[in-house]
Amino acid sequence: VRIHVPADSAAASVGADQVAGRLATEIARAGLDARIVRTGSRGLFWLEPMIEVETAGGPIAYGPVAPADIPGLLAAGLIDGGAHPLRLGPTDAIPYLARQERLTFARCGAIDPVSVEDYRARGGFKGLERALAMTPVAIVEEVTASGLRGRGGAGFPTGIKWRTVLGAAGDQKHIVCNADEGDSGTFADRMLMEGDPMLLIEGMAIAGLAVGATQGWIYIRSEYPRAVATFTRAVEACRRAGILGAKVGGTGPAFDITVRMGAGAYVCGEETSLLESLEGKRALVRFKPPLPALKGLFGKPTVINNVLSFAAVPTILADGAKAYADYGMGRSRGTLPFQLAGNIKFGGLVEKAFGLTLGEAIHDFGGGTRSGRPIRAVQVGGPLGAYFPADYLDTPLDYEAFAARKGMLGHGGIVVFDDSVDMAEQARFAFEFCAKESCGKCTPCRIGSTRGRETIEKVIRGEAVERNLSLVDDLCRTMTDASLCALGGLTPYPVLSAIEHFPEDFDRAPARVAAE
Ligand code: NAI
Ligand code: SF4
Repeated sequence: VRIHVPADSAAASVGADQVAGRLATEIARAGLDARIVRTGSRGLFWLEPMIEVETAGGPIAYGPVAPADIPGLLAAGLIDGGAHPLRLGPTDAIPYLARQERLTFARCGAIDPVSVEDYRARGGFKGLERALAMTPVAIVEEVTASGLRGRGGAGFPTGIKWRTVLGAAGDQKHIVCNADEGDSGTFADRMLMEGDPMLLIEGMAIAGLAVGATQGWIYIRSEYPRAVATFTRAVEACRRAGILGAKVGGTGPAFDITVRMGAGAYVCGEETSLLESLEGKRALVRFKPPLPALKGLFGKPTVINNVLSFAAVPTILADGAKAYADYGMGRSRGTLPFQLAGNIKFGGLVEKAFGLTLGEAIHDFGGGTRSGRPIRAVQVGGPLGAYFPADYLDTPLDYEAFAARKGMLGHGGIVVFDDSVDMAEQARFAFEFCAKESCGKCTPCRIGSTRGRETIEKVIRGEAVERNLSLVDDLCRTMTDASLCALGGLTPYPVLSAIEHFPEDFDRAPARVAAE
């Protein structure tokens, strides 16, 4: 019998490693015929550590399990899926999971992430096998037809990016995976690297075939040591199985992946800054053009995509572009793995077709605020995303719908705040974040962020509120129009949305401040 215990960082943070240790001891002591397999997480964080037993009828889940629960669970017949107060029932029937449309995260939490056999048994490498029999142009066309857009945040069509690289002249081309997941409230990239890394490897290998690149690179943020370790082990297992190396998939051209750990700055997730860092330099943002597609890593044509963009590709190749494009709304095709965080009852990962509303995501999946107080603001798209008020909860999760309300979907991080939040403080924080993380190359961001923070602080102190808010507005316009990259260019989103939707928090008459 296989017993799955997640080794995912989030599960480990609440004791999954101790649960696995105690389980091993008790199984040995009782002489039971059971094997512990460390998996990724299913993404139901309030139930972690959630363990699963493989039975003839499918996996049965138990959670949240503490080491002290193990003897009782075994006595209750855990290895046969026996009854116990912590028994959650068949994993696939847990409503939070049953209501999802998991394409990218279908296997995450259900397999041994470093086992080629496990991955293959659940449909792995089918996309690569099909790609190996196709021409590069046909692969690019398939990805284009699927409507896949960059999941890192910008939503640029992946097929068009690949077409540019395919058409670029170059003796050497590169595939670079951006795994510097820095947005607040996001963890989907990490979960995938820890739970189903071979899906990402397969997607990168297909990208290599599509554009004629033999070198793959992954840049994983240094805060993710488990992801680095699991992904590295998965790469090694794929090399041993002949999937990576001199002949990709055993029959194709050469393709291999080098794992690099990030340098610990938010701006390293900006693509050109990431390339500088990969080349061993200080992560200063580059001017664009030239686009990385034409002149990227070491000056060579480069596909640079986010983890989730590459990870969507094997499904597209295996099931066909149409099957993928059938999900979604408008120009947002396929599924979006979004992440529920902040003041939320049921935080975790949800993958659904685009089109679900923000309110459905937060209430139907997230169960509302953890504090039980009313929702006041929701920030989607990381620290540079706009703050939406509660009456925007009808916004569908769709790139264009968010843009129409001066927001952005970004990497799908949803951070919920209740009515105790001070939005003037949040606006101040946005400037402070930008000041701390700025690479310093351009003036609007380097100087503007600090002046912005000082000016908001004056507003908070109740000094010449109207004049200072007008200065903030001016400054934001300059940052939007004249910053070199998205860090300075998007900082006005949280600031201006906070001022627009929550003006009462900026109305700091000196008398009121004094009274506080
Ligand atoms: P962008 O719109 O400048 O570019 C998007 C991508 O398309 C880039 O890879 C660019 O090189 C490529 N591209 C553009 N035109 C092309 C063409 N004609 N041919 C080939 N490729 C082309 O956006 P940028 O600055 O790369 O990203 C900004 C986004 O990053 C923001 O919207 C934000 O949501 C997101 N972000 C994500 C974070 C995360 O942790 N995932 C953190 C911070 C920001
Ligand atoms: Fe650097 Fe900020 Fe300018 Fe981006 S906007 S290039 S982070 S100084």
